[in-house]
Amino acid sequence: MVRARYPLLYLVSWEEQRLDAVLADLAKGHGKELLHWSVTQGLRRVESARGPGSEGPRDPVEALQAIGKLTDPSLVVLKDFHPFLSDPAVVRSLRELAHALKSTYTTVILLSPTLTIPPELEKEISVLDVPLPTSRELLDLLREIVTVVRKNNRAQVNLSRDEAEQMIKAALGLTLAEAENAFAKAIAHNGRLDGDDIQLVLDEKRQVIRKSGLLEYYPTDEKLQNVGGLENLKAWLTRRSAAFGEAARKFGIPEPKGLLLLGVQGCGKSLTAKAIAATWRLPLLRLDMGRIFSGLVGSSEENLRRAIRVAEGVAPAVLWIDEIEKALSGVASSGQSDGGVTARVFGTLLTWLQEKTAPVFVVATANRIDLLPPELLRKGRFDEIFFIDLPAAAERQEIFGIHVARRGRKPEAYDLARLARASEGFSGAEIEQAVVAALYLAFGEEKELGQAHLEQALRESVPLAATMREDIARLREWSRTRTRPASTLPSEEVPKAIAARFGPSA
Ligand SMILES: Nc1ncnc2c1ncn2[C@@H]1O[C@H](COP(=O)(O)OP(=O)(O)OP(=O)(O)O)[C@@H](O)[C@H]1O
Ligand SMILES: [Mg+2]
Repeated sequence: MVRARYPLLYLVSWEEQRLDAVLADLAKGHGKELLHWSVTQGLRRVESARGPGSEGPRDPVEALQAIGKLTDPSLVVLKDFHPFLSDPAVVRSLRELAHALKSTYTTVILLSPTLTIPPELEKEISVLDVPLPTSRELLDLLREIVTVVRKNNRAQVNLSRDEAEQMIKAALGLTLAEAENAFAKAIAHNGRLDGDDIQLVLDEKRQVIRKSGLLEYYPTDEKLQNVGGLENLKAWLTRRSAAFGEAARKFGIPEPKGLLLLGVQGCGKSLTAKAIAATWRLPLLRLDMGRIFSGLVGSSEENLRRAIRVAEGVAPAVLWIDEIEKALSGVASSGQSDGGVTARVFGTLLTWLQEKTAPVFVVATANRIDLLPPELLRKGRFDEIFFIDLPAAAERQEIFGIHVARRGRKPEAYDLARLARASEGFSGAEIEQAVVAALYLAFGEEKELGQAHLEQALRESVPLAATMREDIARLREWSRTRTRPASTLPSEEVPKAIAARFGPSA
């Protein structure tokens, strides 16, 4: 963009120091003078062959005018200029400057941690999100630290090549300064840097990511075997498990984009998201769409961009967007209801889903189709849209087996097929609850968990499907033409099964 003479660029990043170095290289590489402006230091020429420059204006409008008069090809970095963009005089000056610069070799770069662009400047400014450091950059940092530590004899470094690689991987997603802190902490902790410190760096990253308030680092060891049924979905995932590797790229397979899991509540959508990450041994990041819109931490759009940047920094990773419809329900009326915020956030998300190149596998889940914007379902956003229905009898049997085993009991000790027949209309979550309820029953009687306890628990619980028969029927009807069934088995008709047990008005 500098070469193409874009007059105004906006870089969104917290990492001023890192970018100072990058931009200095850039200026040098293009034979441009480098100038910095900040409200405390004014406009200054960063030292050049001609010696240190003199102080220029601190006032933003005056500074912009001074930039307009520069005669040499220059790269001007405005640091934390964003607060001044609420001043009409500044906005106007910047706009005039943009026009004036078009015929020159000077580029102005706004560098701020947050993105605020007044509408007058939207067409003049090009925004670039600065990606977080690559493993290459982190490796350079680690090398630098190790060299210094060794030279001063301050600590012992005992890292194999493999461990160093894992340590770098653990730091991916941090800024350079955060990574430096994490490494320093790991050294200070016991005066050594070795393989045991990888976990420390990882913990530090969890902290940092949690602090951002948008993403949650979700440790998980769910296995795909712990998900009952859903054979189509599992087969799909197994086929794709190798698709993240270098070999798959060479073979011409594109990076997997992600999945949209639609379906009935409590049937294993969230469970599957966790199992995917654990099975593929990728970090699982949960994106809280509610937080994106909360307004507690910056503007909604910028929040999403920041979350995306972190996810891409951590990549390869699984990004789990739970209950995506809740956040996007107002897209259509966004223009009237919230000044278009929801629509813009949705647009940002769609564009990213469509164009992302980083290996971030998105797993979005939803259980209300009427709230989903249709654009989300178009080809190219996800690799596949799966519909997760209530489990069929054979699947319920499997789910009973899983949860009985989870509670330390032998599945063979029970007539699972009978339980499956007695639990028509139950979701996986409800089957789990029934197993827990049965444990209480047995415990209260001071007996070991028996078949009778499980059957009693089932008799005493009313599945949600009983009150949601119509919703489920509608969901099924809708999904038939738009999604792929996650299960190989057809589910029973809820209305019939439930009606038999709970009466027609249940
Ligand atoms: N297919 C399944 N196999 C085994 N356990 C299941 C299955 N489905 C649900 N469960 C159990 O129920 C719990 C809740 O399920 P989960 O959170 O995955 O449901 P969900 O589809 O995400 O529901 P919601 O729409 O309410 O978010 C799981 O943690 C798991 O213990
Ligand atoms: Mg869920």
